[in-house]
Amino acid sequence: MLVHLHAQDLKLTRENIPEIVSAMTTEEKVDLVVGCGAGWGNPDAKFPGTAGWTRTVPRLGIPSIYFADGPQGVNMAQAREYDTADYSCTFFLSGSTLATSWDVDAAQAIGQAIGHELKERGLDVILGPGMNLHRNILCGRNQEYFSEDPLLSGKLAAAWIRGAQSNGIATSLKHFAVNNQETNRKENDSRVSQRALRELYLKGFEIAVKEGNPWTVMGSYNYVNGVHACENEWLLTDVLRREWGWRGVVMSDWDGVVRQADAVSAGCDLVEPGTEADRTALLAALEDGSLSMENLDRNVRNILELVVKCPSFSNYRFSNDIDRIGHQKLLRRVAAESMVLLKNERSVLPLKPGAVGLYGVSSYDLIPANMGVNGVNNGVYHVSLVQGLREAGFTVSPSVLREYTTYIAAEKEKIASAYPPVYKQFFRYPRPEEIIPGSGEAAAEDLGALTVDLGLKQRSNTPRQSLMEQAEANEAAIITLSRSTGEAFDRAASEFALTPSEKTLIDSLSRAYHSFGKPVIVLLNVPAPIETVSWRDKVDAILLVGQPGERAGESIADALTGKVAPSGRLADSWPVHYGDAPADKNFPSEVGQDLKSLITPRATREGRELVRNIDYTDYEEGIYVGYRYFTTSKTDVAYPFGYGLSYTFFNYEKPSVEASADGFMARVTVRNSGSWPGREVLQLYVSAPSGGLDKPARELKGFVKTRLLAPGESETVEIPVSLQDLASWNEKKAYWETARGVYHFCFGLSADKMQTDCPVRVKNTYLYGKQD
Ligand code: BGC
Repeated sequence: MLVHLHAQDLKLTRENIPEIVSAMTTEEKVDLVVGCGAGWGNPDAKFPGTAGWTRTVPRLGIPSIYFADGPQGVNMAQAREYDTADYSCTFFLSGSTLATSWDVDAAQAIGQAIGHELKERGLDVILGPGMNLHRNILCGRNQEYFSEDPLLSGKLAAAWIRGAQSNGIATSLKHFAVNNQETNRKENDSRVSQRALRELYLKGFEIAVKEGNPWTVMGSYNYVNGVHACENEWLLTDVLRREWGWRGVVMSDWDGVVRQADAVSAGCDLVEPGTEADRTALLAALEDGSLSMENLDRNVRNILELVVKCPSFSNYRFSNDIDRIGHQKLLRRVAAESMVLLKNERSVLPLKPGAVGLYGVSSYDLIPANMGVNGVNNGVYHVSLVQGLREAGFTVSPSVLREYTTYIAAEKEKIASAYPPVYKQFFRYPRPEEIIPGSGEAAAEDLGALTVDLGLKQRSNTPRQSLMEQAEANEAAIITLSRSTGEAFDRAASEFALTPSEKTLIDSLSRAYHSFGKPVIVLLNVPAPIETVSWRDKVDAILLVGQPGERAGESIADALTGKVAPSGRLADSWPVHYGDAPADKNFPSEVGQDLKSLITPRATREGRELVRNIDYTDYEEGIYVGYRYFTTSKTDVAYPFGYGLSYTFFNYEKPSVEASADGFMARVTVRNSGSWPGREVLQLYVSAPSGGLDKPARELKGFVKTRLLAPGESETVEIPVSLQDLASWNEKKAYWETARGVYHFCFGLSADKMQTDCPVRVKNTYLYGKQD
């Protein structure tokens, strides 16, 4: 009787987790390790439109905790039935655009803002950041991730996590691991060497885990060397927990578990989104002994340790009052600063406000940030480029605008009827072909695009102008080119190149505007590199605007006018051709075109011949990804990793490297020697001596972004590099090794342009174990 009373009174606290686990029935334990389904399309979910939640065990005081997708913001339905409140959240910039900021403080601030929105909307776990390596420029999720370099990725992810979790909510670092292609993503096996795993694909996660300590990690869909990532004990238990010393909850990606008992045993604590079939399978596995109670208990404990830290556990009274204005201000600045100036002939930028001809379908239909499942508010609320330019004092040519508006509306209708809505969800709708306004046969009245205002149809009476009339009337041409991407699809190699209509647009506008001595400026609204060498000489300026988030138009206008100095640097190498990087050989680069074939049910691997690059992908290039390959093989690139111009220029003074307790301290003073304020990114590359393991020509070992420096101002930066940071993975011996010899510490403007060189000698060879 006494025991019975005690069981009734027992409620979860931070201190009694072992007791709670002992008091749970087998069914309750299984309930806890299987999620509750997703809130998408479920108006009865507590938070409609969110990714999911855990089960509650009321008798033991175990509440549900709630998950929302990131990483570009909190993804939830912005409107609810019988409710007039606005539940929209800020749609922040894509990961690949945040990466070009090279700014850990910005990443931390963005993470902090997203964590705050999540908490005040009542949830507990943000499913982000995403940080798989950009192995191939066509990977369909590169926009969610940061860079081709693990150090840059890891440092940004760690800062994002620290910012978000400073609110007392959890992050979920995803997708662990080696998730570098979307084609056949749930069945594809990433076959990769131990060295490339350790130095590239796991390195970023290791940094993020050790320096950010995410409360949860999400396993990925793919296989890693023959074992499914969510069922991979080596990955989830040996490396993540034993070697890196991490404690937290691993959840599967949604519908990412194939064999439930294997996943739970391997250390995947939570099966998401969770189905009745998952519960049944786990109960059966306990019966037949393929799942041990010990492993189940371990996972239950991990989940409860997370639950007690979450706001839902302490009944946090969320306000639903989020600092939209403050966050938009932050976003607007970070996005503008993240933009990368690739070309600026005769300093045509910054641009003085005046009349501009705005060209390219995307100038009127920007892709604000990563769309689809991990987007926010379906991407519908964002400041257009037209609005941003007008607010900055520009006049956007009405005749050009009308021609585009009429054309885009008609084309989008055609596209929408040809593709089912699932394509919209994943944001792989084809985009309308480019046109040349002022050419062709459109009648003057066709410019009267219909807009509906207060129920009245409106018709413009703007006369149509020929291209030459447009060039005469405006001060500059601005062209926007974009590429759409989205989860579940890779891009095809053909999307790297410009389309014939994009090329014609650039040719025609350059001819027309240059004949009046007026500049042509290209904005790249792209998530990843595209081809530039064949056309860049025809235009005067190129600004990579990336996917800047919901204040897109304003951020772009700020960067164009110099209100904010664009100080981004490329986080990826931009090749001359697709095919120049060795990873291109082993990637499904022809598949992306066939959109309809890509959303396919899971095809079983058993009993059939596996198809290269579909069922498995060999990472034959090893560690030679991105600039590690281009600089070592001396292969030309269009723009190197780390590249970016400024409106000013910087001098590097007094470089030095001194010995420190555990390695070295590199220092340099950077001075703004131009006439415009700016921020410089100090990139420290190190070249290793020969004689040890085979090494790339140089590797990024540290970076710092200065504060805004006024003309004449300087800042001294220090970057510590430990001896261990210089190590490579010795596959034969399974340990990290720093070879002795002379290392060159160089501050570079990019991966292929060094400004300083300080050689230092490492006297002995150092070895480090897996746990060091
Ligand atoms: C994606 C994850 C996401 C999850 C929940 C999956 O399709 O791969 O990134 O967090 O869905 O929405």
